[in-house]
Amino acid sequence: SALALLIILSAYLFGSISSAVLICRVFALDDPRLRGSGNPGATNVYRLGGALPAALTLLFDVLKGMLPVWLAYFLGLPPITLGFVAIAACLGHIYPLFFRFRGGKGVATALGAMFPVALPMTLMLILTWVFVFLVTRVSSLAALITVGLSPLYAYLVKPQYTVPACMLAALIIWRHRSNIQRLWRGTETGFR
Ligand code: G3P
Repeated sequence: SALALLIILSAYLFGSISSAVLICRVFALDDPRLRGSGNPGATNVYRLGGALPAALTLLFDVLKGMLPVWLAYFLGLPPITLGFVAIAACLGHIYPLFFRFRGGKGVATALGAMFPVALPMTLMLILTWVFVFLVTRVSSLAALITVGLSPLYAYLVKPQYTVPACMLAALIIWRHRSNIQRLWRGTETGFR
């Protein structure tokens, strides 16, 4: 429907706002695309500016997924459309219209998109990330394992979201290919 298309397009545009870049400007930090891992996301903002700007980046990137999906959910749109809204929000974050299509890796935005439709699944994902992070201290590895498990979690908790979860997982893992190479070589930097 026209309403569904409008929300999907809005989700992409809203997702295209790079929280990491804007928050680093507000805090007078270096551009996260030019320092650390070069990724405009909460992990790299932490490397540049510590906990507060990183937490704000995480919050806004989560909201970019959460708000459009919530809106679509309240308007009664079907699960397949909610899945497209979630994917559009993540595509905006990863390939932002306003930032030369060079965005982040989609972890926070995808997590936010799960929240309105599957709270237990969101909590399982957060617990998985925290557990792997506490054990390994490597943000990208925590993200990869969490994202890799997300289709299984969806299948167990909300099977109607298994296909969108697979699509998001594929996209996010693809965006972590440089991290995967570094993990493989043992040179991944974690939070440093
Ligand atoms: O969410 C991104 C994280 O998984 C990896 O970030 O900066 O270490 O590439 P980074």
